Amino acid sequence: MIHDRSKALYERACRVTPGGVHSNVRLAATPVPLFYERGEGAHLWDVDGNEYIDYVMGQGPMLLGHTPRPVIEAVRAELDKGFVPAGQTELEVRAAELICELVPCAEMTRFNCTGSEAVMAAVRAARAYTGRPKVLRFEGHYHGWHDGIAWNYSVLDKEAQGPPEAPLPQASSAGQDPASGDHLLVLPWNDLALVEDLFAAHGSEIAAVICEPMMCNWCGILPLPGYLEGLRRCCDRHGVLLIFDEVITGFRLSLGGGQEYFGVTPDLCVLAKALGAGMAVSAVAGRADVMRVFVDGKTVHAGTYNANRPAMAGTVAALEMLRADGGAELRKAHAAGTALMEGLRALAEETATPLVVRGLPPVFQVSFVPEDAPPIVDFRSSLVTDFEADRRFWRALHERGVRCTARGLWFVSTAHSAEDVEKTLEIVRDALMTLRG
Ligand SMILES: Cc1ncc(COP(=O)(O)O)c(C=O)c1O
Repeated sequence: MIHDRSKALYERACRVTPGGVHSNVRLAATPVPLFYERGEGAHLWDVDGNEYIDYVMGQGPMLLGHTPRPVIEAVRAELDKGFVPAGQTELEVRAAELICELVPCAEMTRFNCTGSEAVMAAVRAARAYTGRPKVLRFEGHYHGWHDGIAWNYSVLDKEAQGPPEAPLPQASSAGQDPASGDHLLVLPWNDLALVEDLFAAHGSEIAAVICEPMMCNWCGILPLPGYLEGLRRCCDRHGVLLIFDEVITGFRLSLGGGQEYFGVTPDLCVLAKALGAGMAVSAVAGRADVMRVFVDGKTVHAGTYNANRPAMAGTVAALEMLRADGGAELRKAHAAGTALMEGLRALAEETATPLVVRGLPPVFQVSFVPEDAPPIVDFRSSLVTDFEADRRFWRALHERGVRCTARGLWFVSTAHSAEDVEKTLEIVRDALMTLRG
């Protein structure tokens, strides 16, 4: 593949933009961070005319494909009316009604623009409601990049991790306020006994527990049977609010998100990505009594662009599209994802490659794991992964026109066709044979 135009644009970008990109996640690209001309369905074209079957899908928002026509038309129809009225529109009422209809915990909702902001809102609501300062989060879960929550995401150094029952607090970024983690508690995920012990010691100081219902952001790890139910029980016993960060899982694992898929209802949840089919929109949603803290005059929730008109038009159209015909659209993503997961596993066997596929059809992880490795259930146990082999596989796929995330997470959309799946598996076979050779 030739990337001359991307390389030239990258050089130009680097003169005016640190690293030539506007999110650090995009630095990890090959051969340079690429520039894209357009998308259509599940395909992307870069500025050099190279075509990719895309499994990055915007890192999640493009659940309905890159160009969902009803969403595009709905946004277009609103564009001549002005973008930010700094007042209310009927669209935002409809968008909130749809969330409350689809998402089990959602009795009320407030909009923001990014997942990070909505996580901030959820945590703030929990602290305001309970009057307690502490929040429990888990190693390897990602909840956005703001100081108060971006701790212990990817601590690879064993000594820096500390013991599992009391992980050492580790900020995810230089420049983070070192005091911003003072009220965070951290534990490995999927170990209920550790949560029970922690709650026995600190339960009355804990406002909330936050986790992704499936650990999408690190190795695609599913909750162990009974774990989410156990978290729910612990929270109830100690008056702690359970927050599901459904930025990725929302509307993807099922119409009602991970909470519907796993059958465990949190007190609050955070929605983004698929919510607006690519428009910049997020939401905190949940129990009405908790959400009402935002009207007590003391608890602030704000944002100039919250519920802006194009985002609301996109959200209403996306949710209408998803809920039509009992979720027929979403079933397409599940079917394509199932075929891919099965096909990848078969190819791993055929080529005798230690390739492991973990997760659920619309979002799964592909990684290289030694055959005799113990089960991967949390961040620490995932470190047996051969991350170098993962990167070689990712590069080999990319050179052949299949684009997945650099960390090995695959996002499947409703626009991935049977033909896309077939072509992808052919390319995977070729990549595996070459790497093996
Ligand atoms: C589970 C989860 N929470 C929060 C965020 C932060 O969302 P945003 O990047 O929109 O701020 C992300 C982003 O990938 C995420 O995956």
